[in-house]
Amino acid sequence: MGPEGVLLHTYYGPRLPDNAPALADGRVPHSDPGCWPDLLPQELSGSGTADNRTPAVVLEYADGTEAAAFVFDRAEAHVGKPQLPGLPMFRDGNGVETLSVFLKDAGGLSAEVRYTVYETEDLITRTVVYTNTGAEPLTLHKAASLSLDFTPDALELITLNGTWAAERTPERAPLRCGIQSIGSMRGIPGHAHNPAVALCHADTTETTGEAWGFAFVYSGNYLIEVERADAGERLVMGIHPYHFHWTLAPGESFTAPEAAMVYSDQGLGEMSRRFHNAIRTRLLPPRWQDMTAPRPVLINSWEACYFDFDEKKLLELAQAAKQADIDLFVLDDGWFKGRNDTSSSLGDWVADTRKLPDGLPGLCKKLNLLGLEMGLWVEPEAISPNSDLYRAHPDWAFAIPGRTPLEIRQQYTLDFSRPEVVDGIWQQLDTILESCPLKYLKWDMNRSLAHVYNAKLPAKRQGEVYHRYVMGVYELQRRLTEKYPGLLLENCAGGGARFDCGMLYYSPQIWCSDNTDARSRLVIQYGTSLFYPGCVMGAHFSTVPNHCTGHISTPEARMAAALTGTFGFELDLTKYTEEELAALRPYVAWYRKHGALLRGGELHRLVDPEPNGLGAAWMIAAKDGSEAAVFAVGDALSGAHGIASPNSRTRTLWKALV
Ligand code: DGJ
Repeated sequence: MGPEGVLLHTYYGPRLPDNAPALADGRVPHSDPGCWPDLLPQELSGSGTADNRTPAVVLEYADGTEAAAFVFDRAEAHVGKPQLPGLPMFRDGNGVETLSVFLKDAGGLSAEVRYTVYETEDLITRTVVYTNTGAEPLTLHKAASLSLDFTPDALELITLNGTWAAERTPERAPLRCGIQSIGSMRGIPGHAHNPAVALCHADTTETTGEAWGFAFVYSGNYLIEVERADAGERLVMGIHPYHFHWTLAPGESFTAPEAAMVYSDQGLGEMSRRFHNAIRTRLLPPRWQDMTAPRPVLINSWEACYFDFDEKKLLELAQAAKQADIDLFVLDDGWFKGRNDTSSSLGDWVADTRKLPDGLPGLCKKLNLLGLEMGLWVEPEAISPNSDLYRAHPDWAFAIPGRTPLEIRQQYTLDFSRPEVVDGIWQQLDTILESCPLKYLKWDMNRSLAHVYNAKLPAKRQGEVYHRYVMGVYELQRRLTEKYPGLLLENCAGGGARFDCGMLYYSPQIWCSDNTDARSRLVIQYGTSLFYPGCVMGAHFSTVPNHCTGHISTPEARMAAALTGTFGFELDLTKYTEEELAALRPYVAWYRKHGALLRGGELHRLVDPEPNGLGAAWMIAAKDGSEAAVFAVGDALSGAHGIASPNSRTRTLWKALV
């Protein structure tokens, strides 16, 4: 405890012995009650009360005052973990303990700072429940989930950045003085940055040194700030304050989404493995936590057909897929009423009988007869201006009164902050799933939000809409996965624009990127692996020249990338000869044989594909060391032309040595 009841943050590092003495921080002059708050390492930082670093909380009381300074009230520890209302989180279970520290501000805001410790996984989660204990309403303008103060240290920041088709390329740089931040104001995390960061020292390597990793369990607007100031470094993670304000009536609470933290003193590799293990065993839907349980090898129709197909063509593709011993056929975009390009039909989730004369159940039956299960693509949050849904409910799409709504990819976004809109889409999806024994659903989301305005909420509550939207997405995914627990849900957002721990609570896999070029994929998947395990990375073997980059890479390199992820296919196999199809079978068989190791093993990054472009190598090893799969992809060929990316560096063609 610091001066005047301020709860100090004094330590986050190697595990301490059970009988460790209380830790004091040398920076805190306990004898001086007037100590300058700017220097105090705080557990929850307020604002307007002389802590002038970036705050965790910005609020406004009814009298217009904006000060918040939190002091200790009480603490409780208990076994287990309470469910966060409507929000994803690392799950409760054996060996889980929670500490709730109640802090209060003199103006009437109380904050329950809640830590849950996963001892086996060496992971800590933290959230804050903000409650108005006063007699008047108050408004939160910033309500972070995590703030963490470090003693002054020369830390480096690692972020995952990119763009469409080049998501999650790592960038590592020493912290400059001042605030560095990443975030999103797009309504989804977006392609540009991922909501997970690491801090480490200059000499931290893959296998040595300290690293602190932080992942946000959230799928909407977020802000991660790291400030380097005279008192040390501060990290703040939470919902982005942009367009966020949330008024709490007396007695009301707001629960901030969860942040997950990992510490490693064995380099970035161990930090990643701890995240991977915790995500696999504590975050994924329970049904998919067993890494020994087979996952279907699928073929997706998108790069094989795009919008140009009929049932005959689909069944030919399915027959070829069966010859390659593939398990499941995913019908991607283009299957519903009038959808022949991006100009129409989103929201009308009924089969186009010109393409599918017997509807989805008919196609499903034919696929089943061929020995394949069926999966389907949907984009539940989207609505085309040219759709029956829009003609019936134009007000369901986001639009600001008096402004022309903005089309991106010729579509609007449904206002999922409105329960009746979520209900309407749920009814359509439920009808499909009731009528057709689908085993897999791909949930896509192909644009960022704009013109965000809820036609039903009063003016003063419009700052709730972005967050309520995300809650609506979670609610629909909850319904789908609860009513259809056997359904394998794969999230996707124009490739990998919503690749986060929030989505992984509902779907055990997320499409990594629309770029399936092996060389690009190695970089994307390497970056993704800093926090997320391979078993969640949607990865498909595709054709050459690659549809995204035009590059030609070897089949072995493409296989290495796909096998390290969820392993599927996305190409027109009807163009393959019988021999070529037969040549795919050993890979499928190899995946089946070693799938438990590939999904559940520990990743060791051996050669980083960036920045020298000399190759990449990685190993997936059983925890007990009994077996390991090693992949090595070497430099090869020439004629590569890299795709544009904000951090584009030399891209090299890869040739697999496996
Ligand atoms: C974007 C996805 O990332 C692709 O895989 C594909 O499903 C298209 N959308 C379909 O419109």
